[in-house]
Amino acid sequence: MIYTIVKFGDPVLEKPSAPITEFDDDLSKLADDMFESMYAAHGVGLAAPQIGISKRIAVIDVTFKEDPESKIVLVNPEIIHTEGRLTSNEGCLSLPEFREKVTRPSKITARAQNLKGEFFDVTGEDLLGRALLHETDHLNGKLYISLLSGLKRDLMKRKIRKLMKQGEW
Ligand code: NI
Repeated sequence: MIYTIVKFGDPVLEKPSAPITEFDDDLSKLADDMFESMYAAHGVGLAAPQIGISKRIAVIDVTFKEDPESKIVLVNPEIIHTEGRLTSNEGCLSLPEFREKVTRPSKITARAQNLKGEFFDVTGEDLLGRALLHETDHLNGKLYISLLSGLKRDLMKRKIRKLMKQGEW
């Protein structure tokens, strides 16, 4: 099932999601649907709040279907290590059409559970590292817009308000 992506302005995107405690078939189905919804929206990462579900699960595929091995499901992820700095363009399916330069750590390790509830660590640099941070932020109710300078953030919000008025958001 393909879900509609929730856009900036919906409060679900700005509240912390609830931890997942049931590792059952429903959770696996949700992860499948999230991959399907992410691919349909041409994204490389998607967090459950972005489909209106306030639960701590996110999916990532930085190869966009090229390598099935690179599909990652993060349940209850925490960032346990970061190092370096990297400024790079970042976008978000909940902020369509926008891309901004964001400075974040360059190498990231996250600890999460898989769909069976087993813990694992994943380390990533470049796009994967960025995705680990970006998606974990979503589960904490944080969007990359909060990492921009006040000036850039205000400009973006102004543009979004205008689009909302025009019924194009
Ligand atoms: Ni996002």
